[in-house]
Amino acid sequence: MNTITIRFLPSGKTVAAHIGDNLLQIALDAGVHINASCGGSGTCGKCKVIVQEGELSHEASALLSDDEYQSGIRLACRAALTNDVTVAVPSGSLKDIAGAPVPRSVPHAARRISQQFAEEVMRAASDPPARKVHLKLSPPRSDDNISDMERVRRGLRRDYGIRDVQFGLPLVKQLPRLLRASKFTVTGALVDDGCMRITALESGDTTSTQCALALDIGTTSLWGRLIDITSKRILTEASAYNPQIPYGDDIISRIIFSQRQDGLAKLQTAISSGVLQLINELLAATGRTAYDIAYIAAAGNTVMTHTLLGIDPTYIREAPYVPAANTMPLVTGADLGWNIVGHAPVRCLPCPASYVGGDIVAGVLSSGMHRSNALTLYIDIGTNGEIVLGNKDWLMAAACSAGPAFEGGGLCCGMRAVPGAIEGFSIDDETLEPMVVTIDRAVAQGICGSGAINILAECMRTGLVDRSGRLNDIRDSKRMRRTDNGLEYVLVFAEDTGAPHDIVLREADIENLIRAKAAMFAGYHCLLEKAGLGFHDIEQVIIAGAFGDYIDVEKAIAIGLLPDIPRERYVFIGNGSLLGAQLVSLSRALLDEAMSIAGKITTIELSDDRSFTDKYIAGLFLPHTHIDLFPTVRAWIGAS
Ligand code: FES
Repeated sequence: MNTITIRFLPSGKTVAAHIGDNLLQIALDAGVHINASCGGSGTCGKCKVIVQEGELSHEASALLSDDEYQSGIRLACRAALTNDVTVAVPSGSLKDIAGAPVPRSVPHAARRISQQFAEEVMRAASDPPARKVHLKLSPPRSDDNISDMERVRRGLRRDYGIRDVQFGLPLVKQLPRLLRASKFTVTGALVDDGCMRITALESGDTTSTQCALALDIGTTSLWGRLIDITSKRILTEASAYNPQIPYGDDIISRIIFSQRQDGLAKLQTAISSGVLQLINELLAATGRTAYDIAYIAAAGNTVMTHTLLGIDPTYIREAPYVPAANTMPLVTGADLGWNIVGHAPVRCLPCPASYVGGDIVAGVLSSGMHRSNALTLYIDIGTNGEIVLGNKDWLMAAACSAGPAFEGGGLCCGMRAVPGAIEGFSIDDETLEPMVVTIDRAVAQGICGSGAINILAECMRTGLVDRSGRLNDIRDSKRMRRTDNGLEYVLVFAEDTGAPHDIVLREADIENLIRAKAAMFAGYHCLLEKAGLGFHDIEQVIIAGAFGDYIDVEKAIAIGLLPDIPRERYVFIGNGSLLGAQLVSLSRALLDEAMSIAGKITTIELSDDRSFTDKYIAGLFLPHTHIDLFPTVRAWIGAS
């Protein structure tokens, strides 16, 4: 891709970009403030810049007069880069926030993505738990009239040296007709998951189309990835909301729902419908058939794993917090009512404890922290925040209920991270005019979790929010107003976007965000303390989760969500749960390794921990009551 250069005046800040990049997004990533009130959807007309040298491709807009256009004025959100260009940001919408003490994080594309370990072990893996084998069997004769099942067994023994293969009854029922219809030339799907079993037989030779399916069963989202077992290539992936959401936003409310009449059955049916929708989508996208799926590995938190399998999760929530099992039995798609893949074995990753599940085990496996000398903090930020601390010698894990604020829940204008959600944000110090950029620069509709972090940090930086989380109305601005709901700061006026209502940040939203970040931070702090370590000892922080990919580390540190340690220690792994499930679906040894990780993790129960409560309370301040824990933020906000 061709790299071009864009220079912003009068700061002179120059950054590299690519042809076709959006000017407003580039400015945001570069830390150059341009007033933008509609999220970049082209309706407010506030993001005007003046082209000084070069040119931009620009969509037609009724918000620019002919005279303005002739004099080089463009709307940044409607402008795409075509060549090297110099643009002036008019005063009034000008502030180079890159000069601020806290710089923006590196653009997402330049972040250190730590999937190298997973890729290496996947390349080396040569022991898939499932595989297909082609059998050319001789038809029965009077002098060779062994049973159909023994005939298949003999073929496996003779051609592949495979002994002691187990058959299930459904397959035995199919054998007589299938073998004769295929003229005794078949492909057998084998799974080696402790004992060797044959799970399906197909007519002809279908060995070139064997796939594994990796699933991440999240409280909010489901992710599926289809992988070619032979080449280990990812064929495609898809995601969907967890259809359990109507029964409760978090795992506690799902457990409570499961105790109702037919509650557990409804939860299991809902999650199954979501998984089947994903499977259909993956197959449609690749042209593969359900019979090609030879193995399914699923990683989820302990409650999701229980409800996926239809196991009562009641006692997970009651002291002493006991799950039904840590290691779930291998089941088949048919056992779960997934008839389309009824033949396929389904392996759930082990759940070490009630609140530390298979998703965390999968994440540790895919990150490689369990093989590393480096003291690593693994964080999966979500409604159910999960944390692991350790290295190759030891692992400690805990979960803390952060609430849904980081997923857009619990905010008056919160929403999921979909087009229209405010994500990029900065505030002009002088005018308090915001620069609002939405996902895909669609019409602003609300605030997603990563956007909420950015907004709160900017409000702190500009003094709009004090350290206790109160909005400050001493500054004269039409955006700061008092309503029946208390003070609120208007991020987007409805009239700027045509939206049905203003998008605002209220003090109640800030409280929810502060509670969520306090819970996460208290969790890391507790684990470190129990290990006799401090934040300065952490050599690596791995941020996991789809949401984690979009976190601006600087802003997350500024509000006290992430520890204030050298930024180069932060790495991102993406969806570690899905990646770990993928590894397990391709290697028996890696499944054994996941089992070993689960057995090695010491789980810490935080809900009854006095120290956690104390630390949580100390965290109910921005960035923290103990500002010494955040030295770079102290300088930034001028706190003593
Ligand atoms: Fe460009 Fe509103 S018109 S941000």
